[in-house]
Amino acid sequence: MSFRALLASRSSEGEVTTKLETLQDDALVDGNVDVDIAWSNLNYKDAIALAGFNIIQSFPLVPGIDFAGTVTASQDPHFKPGDSVVATGWNLSQTHNGGFAQRARVPGDWLINLPDAIDTRNAMAIGTAGLTAMLSVLALEQAGLTPARGEVLVTGATGGVGSVAIALLAALGYRVVASSGKPAEADYLRKLGAAEVIAREKLSQPGPPVAAERWAGAIDSVGGQTLANVLAQTSYRGAVTTCGFVGGRELPATVLPFILRGVTLAGIDSVQAPHGLREQAWKRLASDLDLNLLASTLSEIPLDAVPDTARQMLGGSRKGRTLVNVNR
Ligand SMILES: NC(=O)c1ccc[n+]([C@@H]2O[C@H](COP(=O)([O-])OP(=O)(O)OC[C@H]3O[C@@H](n4cnc5c(N)ncnc54)[C@H](OP(=O)(O)O)[C@@H]3O)[C@@H](O)[C@H]2O)c1
Repeated sequence: MSFRALLASRSSEGEVTTKLETLQDDALVDGNVDVDIAWSNLNYKDAIALAGFNIIQSFPLVPGIDFAGTVTASQDPHFKPGDSVVATGWNLSQTHNGGFAQRARVPGDWLINLPDAIDTRNAMAIGTAGLTAMLSVLALEQAGLTPARGEVLVTGATGGVGSVAIALLAALGYRVVASSGKPAEADYLRKLGAAEVIAREKLSQPGPPVAAERWAGAIDSVGGQTLANVLAQTSYRGAVTTCGFVGGRELPATVLPFILRGVTLAGIDSVQAPHGLREQAWKRLASDLDLNLLASTLSEIPLDAVPDTARQMLGGSRKGRTLVNVNR
């Protein structure tokens, strides 16, 4: 059987290009579960992969770090034909063909059976970004955060992680403050549940190692000076999660927030997160996330629009979540 896929190749000069191709089933690589993909999505990691940033480690390869679809064949006892499943992270788009295709073959360990409340389209509306937002909320809860402790900050607010984090935290009863570089999107952020929107620049300039205590918790996907300032402004025994680096990989901070205020900094990795934690996160997404609200963050593109849309994402000009309809 043949299927359509976006195939990434690398030139001898190291430039990564993609082309829509028709592949045969023999292009499916190692795995014990076959899936007809219904939807994929676009994450920041996809954008940097297509820009040639050393994410894709073997060429040619189908990029796309996420997919959701229906099992068509399985040698894994946990899955049977007809099951709705989701895969995010692992080696997808690194060494294993990923989600920008109509078919995939993967190890069953990489798949999660979707909760009844989440269909394949909503699974990809959530995707790696939404899973990461949920893992961040779980880490804050594990560090003892409750709505009664005070305000929670979300940076990179209009992005995929930020948008879902705001919707989740607001639904759980937190007063959410959104930090964004897009003043025109303040209404969008308020509709998601932000009680207040602050300018990105307020956090991106060098500041003191400890400052007035404001945040009981924070979900940061920006990194760099922003994360250093967030730590400096976090209240006694508050907690901050870090998952991204759109604003820089460095962390120009001191130990003072940790040793004077007992602040917790929790690292979030969605790529190799253990299976049990993923199941817990998808269950919580099914119960805590308002899927109607999530719909307001969505845009939808066909497979051949992925490269151009990824470039816009790298420029920071997009908002919310981008679904990829692999059958268009
Ligand atoms: N650790 C993990 O497992 C994991 C999983 C998912 C994502 N991530 C990382 O998390 C980050 C966000 O991912 P995403 O999918 O949410 O990306 P995204 O949809 O592109 O959103 C990023 C947001 O960050 C803000 N931003 C962009 N450029 C910025 C800059 N130079 N300085 C400060 N803010 C900037 C923008 O929001 P505003 O305009 O509203 O400020 C943008 O919408 C990325 O670094 C990604 O690699 C990590």
